[in-house]
Amino acid sequence: MIQDYINKAGTFTILLAGLLLLSAVALTDFFTTKEISFSIFYLIPIAFVTWNTKRLYGILFSFICAFLWIYMDTDGFKLVTNYALHFWSTIVRFGFFIIVTILISKLKILKVDQENIITQRTSELLNEISDHEKSKAELLQKSRQLRELNKKIETIKEDQNVQIAREIHDELGQSLTAVNLEVNWVAKKHADNPDIVAKMYEISKIVDNTIVTVRKISSDLRPRLLDQLGILPAIESLLKEFVKRTKIETEFNMPEIKVNLENSASIIVYRILQEALTNIARHSKCTRVEVYINIENDMLKLSIIDNGTGFSFKNKINETKSLGLIGMQERAEMLRGTLEINTVENIGTEIILYVPLNN
Ligand SMILES: Nc1ncnc2c1ncn2[C@@H]1O[C@H](COP(=O)(O)OP(=O)(O)OP(=O)(O)O)[C@@H](O)[C@H]1O
Ligand SMILES: [Mg+2]
Repeated sequence: MIQDYINKAGTFTILLAGLLLLSAVALTDFFTTKEISFSIFYLIPIAFVTWNTKRLYGILFSFICAFLWIYMDTDGFKLVTNYALHFWSTIVRFGFFIIVTILISKLKILKVDQENIITQRTSELLNEISDHEKSKAELLQKSRQLRELNKKIETIKEDQNVQIAREIHDELGQSLTAVNLEVNWVAKKHADNPDIVAKMYEISKIVDNTIVTVRKISSDLRPRLLDQLGILPAIESLLKEFVKRTKIETEFNMPEIKVNLENSASIIVYRILQEALTNIARHSKCTRVEVYINIENDMLKLSIIDNGTGFSFKNKINETKSLGLIGMQERAEMLRGTLEINTVENIGTEIILYVPLNN
């Protein structure tokens, strides 16, 4: 605080203050007995002036102090007995003051240098921080754009799936049914020829199997139940198919009420469950799966729990070749939801998805 005030004062004011200090020291020296040495106190005005002004003024004060000191010590040169001796001691004192002045001014230069280095480093650091903030903001922006792009790709993919599934189901399905009708007509026309009837029967069987395959492809591309009856019946059907295919004991619990979820969101939830079930079938070696759907605080909660091998989540999520878990998380974020993956090796894996419902 005092230093701030001194910093603001001009050189003239500081020199005046220095002279006042010097007078106070000299007068005290004058009125006290000569046995008490006052040399150290003369350093106060010298140090004050040197620190707060230029070295030159410090040297000037050193000279005045050396002179005043000898003057006060000899009662105004009255007590001088040996001029050479007094001249010598004055020179020594002057030298001592000069050394102190030089040391103080060097210290001051060091302090100023250090302050400059600190100011420069601080401004460099501030620049670095602002650069860092900038690249962080750019990165966030890029990741937001990537997410948006991902969402668009997903929507386009699902739209295309709907179109292809419809065409496969309607066009191909109807054509195959028509082929079957034609085959039956030929069989009836040649009912008296057992070879032709047998051949037609075989062809009809192949066509029936192809119709089943076509329906399966179409349903994999876009589960019809999802559009017709909503998310819960579609999930139920997916689970039934999972049990049939894997023979894993599966428990399924869902609410009785209708779940209020848009079609575009329903397909994303469906795909997350599909990937989780695929992972269970491919990796978990489990004997039991539990799937629960609950409504909690306007959120849909989907839990998929298996009692399989579990895995080290951190290692797996960093593996670039595995995209299923990452895709699940991306999909959850698309819906402004969250996906928790809790897994313990040799105990099992629990995947919990929260998705906001439409109100
Ligand atoms: N339910 C689970 N039980 C045991 N291990 C699992 C389970 N789910 C995932 N994993 C492990 O996590 C890894 C990553 O799964 P992720 O779905 O990301 O990739 P992936 O299934 O190997 O390949 P893909 O990209 O085709 O899905 C799997 O390879 C498997 O080791
Ligand atoms: Mg997978």
